[in-house]
Amino acid sequence: MPGIVIVGAQWGDEGKGKITDLLAEHGDAVVRFQGGNNAGHTIVREGEEWKFHLIPSGILYPGKTCVIGNGVVIDPKVLIDELDGLRARRIDVSGLKISANAHLIMPYHLLLDSAGEARLGSLQIGTTRRGIGPCYADKAARLGIRVQDLLDEKILKKKIVAAMEPKRLSLRPHEKDPSLDLRAMTEEYLVFGHRLEQHIADTAKLMWELLQDGRKVIFEGAQGAMLDIDHGTYPFVTSSNPLSGAACVGAGVGPKDIDEIWGISKAYTTRVGAGPFPSELHEEMGDLIRQKGSEFGTTTGRPRRTGWLDIVALRYATRLNTLTALVLTKLDVLSGLDRIKVCTSYRGEEEAEFDDFPYHQTVLHHATAQFTELPGWKEDLGECRTLSDLPDAAREYIQFIEERSGAPVALIGVGPGREQVVWTAAGRASLVGPGAEAPAAA
Ligand code: IMP
Repeated sequence: MPGIVIVGAQWGDEGKGKITDLLAEHGDAVVRFQGGNNAGHTIVREGEEWKFHLIPSGILYPGKTCVIGNGVVIDPKVLIDELDGLRARRIDVSGLKISANAHLIMPYHLLLDSAGEARLGSLQIGTTRRGIGPCYADKAARLGIRVQDLLDEKILKKKIVAAMEPKRLSLRPHEKDPSLDLRAMTEEYLVFGHRLEQHIADTAKLMWELLQDGRKVIFEGAQGAMLDIDHGTYPFVTSSNPLSGAACVGAGVGPKDIDEIWGISKAYTTRVGAGPFPSELHEEMGDLIRQKGSEFGTTTGRPRRTGWLDIVALRYATRLNTLTALVLTKLDVLSGLDRIKVCTSYRGEEEAEFDDFPYHQTVLHHATAQFTELPGWKEDLGECRTLSDLPDAAREYIQFIEERSGAPVALIGVGPGREQVVWTAAGRASLVGPGAEAPAAA
């Protein structure tokens, strides 16, 4: 801190929400910088469950500033539902600030997302069908509707007409869909504008002011490195950049405002949607991890694909993000196994061996994982709070990951509860900085 970025180091769902929540307690502001309501996480606080898709969960701490940055795509209906849900549970939401420059997901984006997937048939990406891709496509085509447009009826209507015009052919099958009626859509979005107006702000300026003041800001990423539109397993990716570099552009700050970059990785791997996954498990072991780790999507409920930890991909994510630390979540899920496998290289066609993530899609699609086996442990980890509480084999596993990935482990998750974490010395030091007070071990 003061500027710490939290990113997913795998294919998303690494448990970023819980880590952001832990850090938010020590921070002043949390800002989301990319993605939209394709993301989702659940926070358990004193036995109460909270589900978030767009609003940073830092909103649960009174007095924290929570920002939805310009790089996020916002479905205003989902955002308003989330706000109403929080208000109904007596949460003060006045700290929420929404970038006037963020783009809006429109009804036609939802229809186009589903239609695009249907058209791809067996080649479909497995999107969350929340309109994310079509919304980012309009942003790049300069046909997007932004949050600030909600505040001007004339501009809003004009922009909707301009955005829909080139989509006429694709939207023809939905001609009668009431959500596409221009007048109804404009009116509905104007109402959204009135509801959100008090939160709309120049959030880039706000970030600058906070950082100038020496405030601690957490930049909360969504999805993960392997879903990055530039560096991930394209085209089986999301339509934004979940890498640390995007935190700057998506929040409106410069690279020098970032001090720490934490990558979150599960102790194994999961992926939702289609696309290559070299360390995937198909048989009983895959099922066991899915059940034990409750690997079902928060946003879509889809069962996640599961596999062993992939060090090739993790090292790639460490490099692309210049991670200063790794957080290893769900280590407890691996308890009870005799041996644990880790993917340490890929084998391509003609026996070619790859230690580094291959840039060519054909190589990746044919790659099979080569594994190193490590001893497992039987003990339940739920009560462990320090490294010395962990069984030797678990410590060996962590050390192996540190050495092979190239990033020190800062924090280890040993259960779903907020308190079920093990801080390492590296984690405490990087979180608080020299001379500051370290967070308690438990
Ligand atoms: P989209 O982001 O909805 O366009 O989906 C593109 C790909 O990213 C699909 O494979 C989704 O399953 C995946 N994806 C999007 N958001 C998440 C997430 O939050 N966690 C995991 N996978 C995601």
